Amino acid sequence: MCALGHDIRASEGTNRSNRPSWDRSLRVPQGSDAIAMHRLAHATGALDVNSPYAYLLCATDFADTAIVAEEDGDLLGFITGYHPPTRPEVLFVWQVAVAPSAQGRGLASAMLDGLADRVRTDRHGHPLTVEATVAPNNEQSRALFGAFARRHGVPMTEHPHFPAELLDPDLNHEDEPILRIGPITASR
Ligand SMILES: CC(C)(COP(=O)(O)OP(=O)(O)OC[C@H]1O[C@@H](n2cnc3c(N)ncnc32)[C@H](O)[C@@H]1OP(=O)(O)O)[C@@H](O)C(=O)NCCC(=O)NCCS
Repeated sequence: MCALGHDIRASEGTNRSNRPSWDRSLRVPQGSDAIAMHRLAHATGALDVNSPYAYLLCATDFADTAIVAEEDGDLLGFITGYHPPTRPEVLFVWQVAVAPSAQGRGLASAMLDGLADRVRTDRHGHPLTVEATVAPNNEQSRALFGAFARRHGVPMTEHPHFPAELLDPDLNHEDEPILRIGPITASR
């Protein structure tokens, strides 16, 4: 059971030994990915779908804090994020999307590891904390970030952050508490 503000390091997960290596599919996004990112966000059926323009900004101005996965010309996954302006030691993960056909094969984990490694390299190895807001019942997303914390051997804590009324006046949106993972100080 997870308590707010306490270490909620995830329990052991499933065996990953038979998962494919995604290393050759991962790359920095570019402007020409924006339309496919928009389509993929819609295809997950679970994300708030942003405008193509927003994905274009993520894939260009914020490309250093984003990653995409492509196979045979198809965009199979992306992560968008940014450094909060006053906290450059934080990688805020905005959206993680994996095509339904590619889910459950370690792609989101590979993207998150690849992005965190790249950001740490860009920041000359300085400690990095990963943050993301996750709705209470988004089990896939919580599993993803919990497994990431476990692989990196760092704590994951949860705190209240964006209440539902800031996201939808009719309260059809859930609260979005924030997960903080890190600081990551060493390579895996
Ligand atoms: C969440 C999402 C990105 C995960 O992508 P994925 O490539 O299937 O994830 P992975 O295969 O890397 O699995 C990551 C971890 O989550 C676990 N997991 C994956 N799907 C799960 C599910 N449906 N229920 C519970 N755990 C799940 C995996 O077992 C793994 O943990 P482990 O390493 O301890 O075994 C994908 O399901 C998705 O795009 N969902 C819709 C959009 C969304 O909810 N995004 C997150 C919010 S921004």
